[in-house]
Amino acid sequence: MKFALFLACSLVVFAAAPADDKPKLPDGPGKETMIRICANCHGPEIVLGKRLTRDGWSQIVMNMVQRGAQGTDDEFADIVDYLTNTVSVEAAKINVNKATAKQLQTGLEISDKDADAILHYRDANGDFKSIDDLKKVPGLDVAKIDAKKSKLVF
Ligand code: HEC
Repeated sequence: MKFALFLACSLVVFAAAPADDKPKLPDGPGKETMIRICANCHGPEIVLGKRLTRDGWSQIVMNMVQRGAQGTDDEFADIVDYLTNTVSVEAAKINVNKATAKQLQTGLEISDKDADAILHYRDANGDFKSIDDLKKVPGLDVAKIDAKKSKLVF
């Protein structure tokens, strides 16, 4: 009986993953080319979350050409641009409402004390809606937060 209950609970947990949480490719120049050329062997989402430099992306693209990816030099250049200027930039963004203390600390270059203060405030007050909400966290170095505002997602 207890085991059946446990089983039922685990099933609920697995079924509860929301469908709209699927990662999406960010919009930017070169996106269509990337999808057309890079999605033949695996989903184009394979590039998501990687924060590579231009060199790092060029190496991946060269590697894919060796594996059989087909396109012109211009198309591959557009793809490397998209990966560098859009995918890496997106990957560096920090969702203030989901980030762990460690992610806040490294991503925003703040102290662990500041990162903990953000988490405590979030736990007590719910999600931040804007940078103005974030600045209400007591003791936070507002100048540091402002300096990183283009990296913040709410
Ligand atoms: C001809 C088939 C093919 C095409 C087209 C292709 N890939 Fe791949 N890709 C693969 C295979 C096979 C792997 C898995 C090999 C591995 O894990 O090293 C892979 C793995 C990857 C990985 C994960 C491995 C890593 O090193 O991080 C990335 C990222 C990637 N591809 C990006 C791309 C991009 C960008 C393009 C378009 C320029 C592309 N792929 C086009 C076959 C392809």
